[in-house]
Amino acid sequence: MKRTKIIDLLDGQLIGQTVNLKGWVRTFRNNQFIALNDGSCLSNLQVVVDYENTEESLLKRITTGAAISATGLLIESQGRGQKVELKAESIEILGDADPEKYPLQPKKHSLEFLREIAHLRFRTNTFGAVFRIRHGVAFAIHQFFHERGFVYLHSPIITGSDAEGAGEMFQVSTLNLDNVPKNEQGNVDFKKDFFGKATNLTVSGQLEAELAALALGQVYTFGPTFRAENSNTSRHLAEFWMIEPEVAFADLNDDMDLAEDMLKYVMKYILDHYQEDLNFLEQRLADEEKTKPQNERSPLPLKEKLLFCVDNDFERLSYTEAINILKNCKPNKKGQFQYIIEDWGADLQSEHERYLVEKHFNKPVILTDYPKNIKAFYMKVNEDGKTVRAMDILFPGIGEIVGGSQREERYEVLVERMKEMHIPEEEMYWYLDTRKYGTCPHAGFGLGFERLVQFITGMTNIRDVIPFPRFPGNAAF
Ligand code: 4AD
Ligand code: MG
Repeated sequence: MKRTKIIDLLDGQLIGQTVNLKGWVRTFRNNQFIALNDGSCLSNLQVVVDYENTEESLLKRITTGAAISATGLLIESQGRGQKVELKAESIEILGDADPEKYPLQPKKHSLEFLREIAHLRFRTNTFGAVFRIRHGVAFAIHQFFHERGFVYLHSPIITGSDAEGAGEMFQVSTLNLDNVPKNEQGNVDFKKDFFGKATNLTVSGQLEAELAALALGQVYTFGPTFRAENSNTSRHLAEFWMIEPEVAFADLNDDMDLAEDMLKYVMKYILDHYQEDLNFLEQRLADEEKTKPQNERSPLPLKEKLLFCVDNDFERLSYTEAINILKNCKPNKKGQFQYIIEDWGADLQSEHERYLVEKHFNKPVILTDYPKNIKAFYMKVNEDGKTVRAMDILFPGIGEIVGGSQREERYEVLVERMKEMHIPEEEMYWYLDTRKYGTCPHAGFGLGFERLVQFITGMTNIRDVIPFPRFPGNAAF
């Protein structure tokens, strides 16, 4: 008999029919009531066992974590809480889970502990909800761009360039590390390496997206990116997924509109389609917040927070305006910031971003026109010669969620910037070619996928929204 998923049974349409269920036992009470979960939704379905007519040896094997198949009549639920339950006629154990050894006993486990058993944490309510929503976020992003006629571009994962010019790259090589070939100058001879040159895992697909956008008009990437930065924070991963749209004939305002529309579209999609999981995560977050001091708690419950972001315009202001606010704010004057803002030109730290978003404006903020010295080489230089057409979107509790810009489309200006920032011109001839042949204004941005999933699920640590997080000192599983 073909199995029916729990999500398809809950509405009660199949009451009175014989169905087969397959899933994992969450709990087994009184030798009678199995709470079964099959991952199709948060809810378990209660399977009622006729224990008087079931062999003792079988009952003993119905333990937390075991995989079972249950066939029987779907009936209206006798107890409270759920509409339907399964009156089991036969039960088969598909896979035992030794109760003496199974690490996920039905009690509250800390997220830290669950991270250590990340291969099993999918089986908890929290991670089931997080990963269903993660899927929903990815799907909504693809749908958003598809509806607007964007082409999904698969940019390479192994590259020979550093798109951000920040040097935070993982090297890719098949050279024997115990006996590395050297050239006449005594440096590593990458000519002997697999690709005949030095290569690395990509930090961003933007440069390739630009090449495609300048022919296809509107493209986006959605793939893994890698940063070898030694950041041990709740917002950084060494391997994360990024969405990078790139649009020809667009300026920074178009870019900001696109990013804001996309974020709102995705949040609305999740509010509309993931009610049950969101309700659960909202309660989880509320419980977690109770353990925090009052002033660190978020002012809104999870769903209201998302709705607020969907319904309100993001605040747009320039870096220069932001610096003036920060210079004169209380925590700066009283020395409460770790990094005191003294002069225009300072790079904003997360404490500053959070002050603007969480204390000053109380809503998502888009900062524009940053000093060129703290931004990447490809951003369009403003007429003042000091700032670039950059934008960062800052979210409450997260900080930077999107970074983007209008691109420098003027060949001479771009070459000048590359010289200033020591970007090797010869190696980047292909990028410069787009500015030689049919260049045009264009813009794009990068969205950190996990940071958005974090915001939507209310999970405090980014390591809890990706199946197997990679961070300094950890590549388990
Ligand atoms: O600001 P970033 O470095 O921008 C770029 O890579 C550009 N090429 C994007 C573009 O214009 N096409 O990264 C973009 C976003 C950040 O805003 C942040 O959300 C996320 O990627 N991000 C990270 N997420 C998790 N862990 C990390 N280590 C991250 N670094 C950046
Ligand atoms: Mg950035």
